[in-house]
Amino acid sequence: MCGIIGITTGAAAVRADPGAASGDTFVDDASEHDGILGVLLEGLARLEYRGYDSAGLALVGMPDAGGLWRARAANGTRSLDDLVKRAADAPEGATAGIGHTRWATHGRPAEVNAHPHVDCSGRIGLIHNGIIENHVELADELIADGHHFESETDTEVLAHLVESALDTGRALGLADAVRSALGRVRGAFSLAVVHADEPDLIVAARRVSPLLMGVTGSAAFLASDVPAILGLTRDFFVLEDDQIAELRPGRLTVTAADGRQIEPARLHVDWDLEAARKDGYDEYMSKEMHEQPRAVADTLLDRVLPDGTLALDEVHITNEELRAVNKVFIVACGSSYHAGMMAKYAIEHWARLPVEIDIASEFRYRDPVLDPSTLVIGVSQSGETVDTFQAVREARRLGAKVLVISNVVDSSMAREADAVLYTRAGPEIGVASTKTHLAQIAALDILALYLAQARQTLSPADARALLRGMGEVPGKVAVALERSTDVEAVAGRYRDSPSFIFLGRQVGYPVALEGALKLKELSYLRAEGFPAGELKHGPIALVEPGTVVIGVATRTPIWEKMMGNVAEVKSRGATVVLVAGDGDEETARHADSVLWVPPTEHLFAPMVDVVPLQLFAYHLARLHGYDVDRPRNLAKVVTVE
Ligand code: G6P
Repeated sequence: MCGIIGITTGAAAVRADPGAASGDTFVDDASEHDGILGVLLEGLARLEYRGYDSAGLALVGMPDAGGLWRARAANGTRSLDDLVKRAADAPEGATAGIGHTRWATHGRPAEVNAHPHVDCSGRIGLIHNGIIENHVELADELIADGHHFESETDTEVLAHLVESALDTGRALGLADAVRSALGRVRGAFSLAVVHADEPDLIVAARRVSPLLMGVTGSAAFLASDVPAILGLTRDFFVLEDDQIAELRPGRLTVTAADGRQIEPARLHVDWDLEAARKDGYDEYMSKEMHEQPRAVADTLLDRVLPDGTLALDEVHITNEELRAVNKVFIVACGSSYHAGMMAKYAIEHWARLPVEIDIASEFRYRDPVLDPSTLVIGVSQSGETVDTFQAVREARRLGAKVLVISNVVDSSMAREADAVLYTRAGPEIGVASTKTHLAQIAALDILALYLAQARQTLSPADARALLRGMGEVPGKVAVALERSTDVEAVAGRYRDSPSFIFLGRQVGYPVALEGALKLKELSYLRAEGFPAGELKHGPIALVEPGTVVIGVATRTPIWEKMMGNVAEVKSRGATVVLVAGDGDEETARHADSVLWVPPTEHLFAPMVDVVPLQLFAYHLARLHGYDVDRPRNLAKVVTVE
């Protein structure tokens, strides 16, 4: 949520590290600019998935322009295009610059609220990701001291706090001023600041929201995530909470909150920029859906030993500790939450452990009862979602064992956990999760089997049979994807429907919820998912002749009950679309349209059954002419509560 990038080179040119991601000149067709401006614009293009309400940049050090030069644009998904045009007027010879792409929290998406924000003198430029919770009281105080605010944002208060620390002599330099400002603020943030009077310097800081840095030759740079600067290096430094970084050409200094100099943590990234490109697909979402068989297969890879047992080497909780676990909590948001819901069935069934599943933003505020025999599983693609991160942190504080399922290696959550199980889906750019969702289910399923193995609740023969079944899932997902054109035809039939009801039972219920979420996110249509058995307690009042009801009707042990619920809506005039296993004519007889999938063992079936629902949402959104990679009002990485 909000993308941040910054680079300082002094007077030198920008050059990639020879070890940086291959085949990349870094500054490519995102802009015709080179040097600092080129790096910023290219980086912002790669950060757009974090937000696209507006985009902006600030440059310092231009010999003929003096001061700080700023350009901003707020034009929805075209903000960056507009910014690139405005950058044509940028003065030559900048020595450092910062850039930002915004997902609005405080202040509407408008140019006046776009970052960078400046102080009263216009010489300090600041970009920020996160929320400053006490910004109102701080702004009141600063206004009383004579500061002038121009935006409706919480961010601007930071620029004035830095200015105030410098003007009043409370701070000796920019880093000191940032430290002083951060001593006053509450909330989660990462930020970068430049000052026209120190034109080679960028000061950066973070609390909760991530920030990575790199140094190559005569450059030093930073970003909120890897793709933005992967063209410059593969070796990053990670800023930790409340540390302050000073970036100068070819140099990085990191200090702790008390001013003590420290050696920053390192991170090596071995994936390539190609993985974050569209590879000939029209959209990232389409590419990423087609990568799902691989994402599932890679997540299983090497974790199933030839004898059929499981090896999860990132799990550093001993079998003894796992045997002592008497309760599991799963915490997550969005699609990750739905993956967690699916895992509840698998863990309870195979490992015979009670599982509670919580929306992460609710978890820590409900005073959960946790102790060392509780296992808390945080599920997150990004490993940065602040609600899940805080839930995981709270769980650790309360003494529970914490295991994180993350797609991003060394993410904030991964570093917070006792153990990590990585999904290996590769970078996901499309805002609505697809391949990482499937990889999460696969990872949670093997975790469930692992728990069952450690707790000896499943016989080795049964576990082997299940693992063989899981090995067939990638192929079945591929078959489901091959039917994209059939799903498009079904979506075309219902393109004018204003709303959709999704139904499922047992593991089909979270699949229904995920189908409804995808449709809402991409098509902006009312779509609600319900447990089919609950229908008669209220939601059935929504059904009238022509209401489109989409049911997950593959064969679970309670398929008959599901079909009873389908009959209830059908007899009230609903138009019924069913996800059904190949050849299941009995199910098809109850449907107006069928989305066929290869039949799969029911606890693995969500990975296959959700595919036609992803495709349905994708095609319907395209039929309506919407941008499936950048749905309105959404961001991929949500770093605000
Ligand atoms: C955002 C994304 C969703 C995602 C959710 C949780 O809302 O748009 O696709 O499921 O965040 O993200 P996480 O990174 O924690 O899985």
